[in-house]
Amino acid sequence: MRAHPTRLWVIDTPSTSYVVALDEHDRLRGLHWGPRLTREQAASLPELPEAVGRSVTDGCDAVLDLTPASAFRYGANGVQVRFADGARELELAFTEAVEAERELTLVFTDAHYGLELRTRYRAFADSDVIERTLTLRNRGAEPIEVIRADSASWVVPEREDYRLTQLYGEWGAETRLHRTTLPFGETHLGSRRGITGHQSNPWVAIDDGTAGEAHGEVWSTALAWSGTWRLTVEKAPTGRVAVSVGSGHDPVSVSLAPGEELETPVAAGLYASEGFAASAAAWHDYARAHVLPHPEELRPVAYNSWEATEFDISAEGQAALAERAAAMGCELFVMDDGWFSSRVHDRAGLGDWHPNPDRFPDGLGPLIKHVHELGMRFGLWVEPEMVNPDSELYRAHPDWVYHRPHRRRSEMRHQLVLNLARADVAEWMHAWLDELLSRNEIDFLKWDMNRPFSEAGWPGEADPDRLWSEHTRNLYRVLDRLRADHPRLRIESCASGGGRVDFGILRRTDQVWTSDNTDAVDRIAIQEGLAQVYPAKVMGAWVTDAPNPFTRRSVPLDFRFHVAMAGVLAVGGDLDAWTEGERERGAELVADYKRIRHLVQHGRRRPLRAGAVKGVQYGLDGETAVLAWRLGRRLGYRDPLVKLAGLDPAARYRERGTERVHHGAVLASHGLDLRLRLDDYASAMVHLVEE
Ligand code: GLA
Repeated sequence: MRAHPTRLWVIDTPSTSYVVALDEHDRLRGLHWGPRLTREQAASLPELPEAVGRSVTDGCDAVLDLTPASAFRYGANGVQVRFADGARELELAFTEAVEAERELTLVFTDAHYGLELRTRYRAFADSDVIERTLTLRNRGAEPIEVIRADSASWVVPEREDYRLTQLYGEWGAETRLHRTTLPFGETHLGSRRGITGHQSNPWVAIDDGTAGEAHGEVWSTALAWSGTWRLTVEKAPTGRVAVSVGSGHDPVSVSLAPGEELETPVAAGLYASEGFAASAAAWHDYARAHVLPHPEELRPVAYNSWEATEFDISAEGQAALAERAAAMGCELFVMDDGWFSSRVHDRAGLGDWHPNPDRFPDGLGPLIKHVHELGMRFGLWVEPEMVNPDSELYRAHPDWVYHRPHRRRSEMRHQLVLNLARADVAEWMHAWLDELLSRNEIDFLKWDMNRPFSEAGWPGEADPDRLWSEHTRNLYRVLDRLRADHPRLRIESCASGGGRVDFGILRRTDQVWTSDNTDAVDRIAIQEGLAQVYPAKVMGAWVTDAPNPFTRRSVPLDFRFHVAMAGVLAVGGDLDAWTEGERERGAELVADYKRIRHLVQHGRRRPLRAGAVKGVQYGLDGETAVLAWRLGRRLGYRDPLVKLAGLDPAARYRERGTERVHHGAVLASHGLDLRLRLDDYASAMVHLVEE
């Protein structure tokens, strides 16, 4: 971190610099977010003319790095409070800069009310991602209402035009990649549901409209938070753009007591100069280096029983499926919903976390032992934040759910949300999970969360809106404690598929359930979107039956496998119903995946596209895996060759299996012949090893 006498600071990453400076009113301006600058170069930035509006009040819209509501601030304000006397404007004075290696904290204090803000920047030696947080401390004598406390406002450099890339979606169709010209005004993305949400992932990218996969500047930001959130992209009339992001949603606010401190979640930002694929790869590297708890591990090939059995499970049936899964090469057997109390359908039992005595008269022990003897790890589905009204738990603690005295308790999937913001509920949740994990050799939990909040009240609590953030904080605390006390435990984050995918949950889980939609064709787009931010090693992908139970589409087994092999491959079909030939071919494809999974999970991802043929390439240390697919083919045209990138043009690459030898230069300039079958839904996996 370099300080400058004129109150200017430079945050350096390996190939980028981020520059902020105070103006004469102690406003923090974002001066640069782009290629590396020397200290001397950065120091010249304040001399550049600014894009000023015609009106005197427009001068600081979308150019500030810290955006408190204050006089003449009519645009997006990332920090909004209400003091005890009703005042809403902040008058901040810069207090000090605290600098450490690759860290900078700038401290501001309100002139009268004693509210202290600390905006913090953290860089890494091996990543261009910058992490930011904001801390609010009430140093006054009266409570302060905090309406908005964004983790960061990122000022995007001035360009002729701007394009927004977002990941939108819904259940069964998460993380859909969408690019659109940025309009003037404020564009809001967010979640008011209590969780990250299927509808929008807390990440956006901005470019000038000309970036492509392999070229162009891309600015992006991601929020590491699994509760409600809001991201505002502001394009001021001057043409300037800034992105402000933080947890919480309107109209929720919390009260900060005298002496109390509030620290926001991390907002991470990245400038990438070589296109969307490089930007995505940088996010993946960051996730592996600084987010995931066990980045070095390869995720096992799982079998999950949900689509095969749904609620109709028995100890014998699960054991038989486990045997088939083991024979196919699966390494983790996950028993899904339906194993506990009266949970034989979705109308009862959630909250009563003891094995169903009819289905598992001797507990889970015998099944777990059997699975372990088959050489697999054992995983279990849980949904700890929920309760069915028809349960012992709800009958004993009807006040443990979010509710309001004079409103109905709206159910979704016959369930209500437990008030995890309550300390006693968090304690209860930790206790039963800890006991379950202590008594049974469980290696993996699929942690589900199947409905959003509604009537989110907390009767009797003085500051009830706190539930929105406390729920997520207590979720994190329970996960952290369980992980610390059960070090071999690995966790999958699920919320009806991909409803809780973000860098906050990924700090304490190992993978996510990408989508309940297991149709391989639909999955291509869902996975493409997820891969803009999150690495393949968190992207759970099952191969299920044909026709697909959701879409009724039938696609070949190889196609289903090849699409799932682009993430963390798992099997989720009814293996009893598969033919002997399908099971044998499945075993071959699982073995194929194990040969390339170090590349998929730890390699550099590059998207592939050649006409109707699409796919993805993962490369690491002279090895490359190509996974490609084509839906339909036109008569009279052969499938195009697929050009590969990132190879050594002087090197030769041997294709595993066929032993064909390819030249790097030819693969790059002409492409690889995938030899796809002529039929619809053709697919291929090619593993190239440098000679
Ligand atoms: C959710 C999950 C599914 C499955 C069911 C079980 O829908 O997303 O994968 O676990 O719950 O009820």
